[in-house]
Amino acid sequence: MSDITLQNRRILLGVCGGIAAYKSAELVRLLVKKGAEVRVVMTAAAQQFVGELTFQALSANPVHTKLIDLESELGVATGEDTVTGMGHIELARWADLILVAPATADLLSRHTAGRADDLLAAVLLASRAPKLFAPAMNMEMWSNSATQQNISKLTERGVRIVGPASGEQACGDVGLGRMVEPDQIVEEVSAKFSTGALQGESLVITAGATREPLDPVRFISNRSSGKMGFAIAQAAVDAGAKVTLIAGDCALDTPDFVKRVVVESAEQMMSAVEEVIENATLFIGTAAVADYRPAKYKQHKIKKSADTMTIELVKNRDILAEVAARKNSPYSVGFAAETENLATNGEGKRRSKGVDIVAANLVGGEDSPFGSDENEVTLYWDGGEKLLKRSSKTDIARQLIEFIGLRVREQKEELEKK
Ligand code: PMT
Repeated sequence: MSDITLQNRRILLGVCGGIAAYKSAELVRLLVKKGAEVRVVMTAAAQQFVGELTFQALSANPVHTKLIDLESELGVATGEDTVTGMGHIELARWADLILVAPATADLLSRHTAGRADDLLAAVLLASRAPKLFAPAMNMEMWSNSATQQNISKLTERGVRIVGPASGEQACGDVGLGRMVEPDQIVEEVSAKFSTGALQGESLVITAGATREPLDPVRFISNRSSGKMGFAIAQAAVDAGAKVTLIAGDCALDTPDFVKRVVVESAEQMMSAVEEVIENATLFIGTAAVADYRPAKYKQHKIKKSADTMTIELVKNRDILAEVAARKNSPYSVGFAAETENLATNGEGKRRSKGVDIVAANLVGGEDSPFGSDENEVTLYWDGGEKLLKRSSKTDIARQLIEFIGLRVREQKEELEKK
């Protein structure tokens, strides 16, 4: 059965050389069944235990084995065929999570030392994705202080270690060293994505640009792509929230398990929000809503005549401010797109719109978040601020959702005390 938290997740499975490698085939099958996209990297030793073809058939993707692969490098260099011809950097960037199962003593040692002497070690070193290792080795190798020191260092660096389990080993010894069962590893992978920070919450989020029509063919709009809002919608679903995403015309796929409502103008966005806000416990405004719209919509295409032309604009209603001002308003988070004075303007918007948190981002310069895959935001709330350093929008979204979850819980606890 598919799993909401694993749906469309890109999991890179590293398989090392150990007898437990045969269980990794089942691992791929389970991950794919739960909706994940899996790519497999095998070390040279792993190929002695299980054939490439097994993983290729189960993952429905080519298996990666070589650090220097002329075909892969060609694919990367030309930008063509990057699906089959992924080099180590592409694989490192592609992965949402890297799982190494079985992880041998040798691999643990090489990654601790920061080596990049085969494809798997190089991908691990080059990737910022979360890492989960399922060690498997002889019990003496596992208990050796060298291995234990490596495990401590890897854990300190944020690598999650699952297992090993205890039991009879292939070499006849009985003790710690068996790879944990595939279904347990899958649960750990799923838990890595599912934060539970918004369990039981119902979120309404706006995203993308609005279009304010002038005539049947023209409109006033802005550069928002919707990427920030869609990433937050995904992160909120992963955190357990029920999500309604009200978006302008964005060329983006709807995240799974998200209800998407498509609108065009600020007025339509306002109406769509009003329809669903009653039952929401959270509201996040990432949309770049037009502050003004043309005062008059012309039924027919405006003709070119005079050398200059003036368009009268009237103010749109402020969706965020109106939501925050409602009786029993949801916990409200706004974004502030600023070209200067981030702190003053961001905090000013938080107060004037009466929202709980403002996430302020600098726009206009070289690093403008409009349309980009990255962002950097500073969060302002009553009595505090926090910088979410430049990172992918996926990562910023996850951090933001975690933070909102924390603040919502704190607020509930304070209310309960009263
Ligand atoms: O979509 P991307 O390409 O990923 O880019 C992301 C982003 C830059 C658009 C996003 O990070 C961002 O900053 N969104 C807010 C853009 C904006 O309109 O900022 P603002 O400072 O003008 O508005 C402040 C807040 O009021 C926003 O939450 C906005 O949604 C809301 N607002 C504004 C006007 C209005 N009439 N109604 C509103 O709800």
